[in-house]
Amino acid sequence: MNALAAKLGGRAPRTAVILGSSLGDLAQAVEDALVIPYTELPGFPAPGVSGHAGKLFAGRLGGREVAVLAGRAHPYESGNAAVMRPAIGMLKEAGIETLILTNAAGSLSPRMRPGSIMLIADHINCSGMNPLIGQHGDENFVPMTDAYDPALRQRFHAAAKAEGILLHEGVYCWYSGPSFETPAEIRMFQIIGGSAVGMSTAPETILARRIGLKVAGLSVITNLAAGIEGASPSHGETKREGARAAEKLKQLVTRFLKDG
Ligand code: HPA
Repeated sequence: MNALAAKLGGRAPRTAVILGSSLGDLAQAVEDALVIPYTELPGFPAPGVSGHAGKLFAGRLGGREVAVLAGRAHPYESGNAAVMRPAIGMLKEAGIETLILTNAAGSLSPRMRPGSIMLIADHINCSGMNPLIGQHGDENFVPMTDAYDPALRQRFHAAAKAEGILLHEGVYCWYSGPSFETPAEIRMFQIIGGSAVGMSTAPETILARRIGLKVAGLSVITNLAAGIEGASPSHGETKREGARAAEKLKQLVTRFLKDG
C-alpha cells in the first residue's frame, strides 16, 4: 500500500482534482476533509510557486468522495516534464479512476474573456518536451485521441447548463514557460488552432493516460494572451484573476460530481 492509500484510511475517492494557480477555493469547499501535506507523501511536489498550498484534501464534494490536490509542480521549475509522475501514479494506486485537471490560462480569442471557463477538448504540445521521453516499452506509445474523455466532457457541459454557467470548449496549448509568450508566438498558436495557452496540464494528461486514468481538463481564463488587445500578462494578474474565477470553478466541479 502506498503512503497515500495508507493515509486515506477508510476513504476511497475515485475522482481526484488537481488545482491550478490560485484556484485553491475548491479545496476549502471539501467537506469533512482529511488534509495531508505533500511533505508526507513521498514523490509529491514540494510547494514552490506562490499561490500553491502543497496539500491534498480528501473528503466530500457534491456528496462524492474526492481527493483535491491544491498545488502542482510545473515542468518549468526543473526541466522535468514528468515531475508529476509520482503523484499521479500514487493517485492511481490509491484507487483514483478519474482525474480532473484545472489550470489558469491565457485566452487566444478576444471573444473568450478573462473570468471565463474553458473545457479542454484537446491539446497541442508546444513545449518540445514529453513526460514519457526516456521510458521504454510499447505502453509508452500512448494514443492521444479523445485524451480528454468525451463522456466526462458531456457531463461537464450538462453541469454547466444546470448551474447557468457559460462553458467554452477549446484547444489548450502547452507552452513551457516560465517566461510568458511573445505576441508572435501567440499569433502562431492562434493560426495552428489553439484556444488558450498555459504552462501545465498537458504533461499530466499524457502521464495519466499512460496509466489508464480518465481525464478532464478545465482552464480558468485569467487574461487575454500576450499582444491581444495589447495584453501583457503577468503572474500577479494570473493569481488575482484566478482567485476571482475560483468560485465559478467550484460551482461547476461540485455540480459535476453531484450529478455524476
Ligand atoms: N500564458 C501562459 N500561461 C498562463 C497565461 C498566459 O497568458 N495566463 C495564465 N497562465
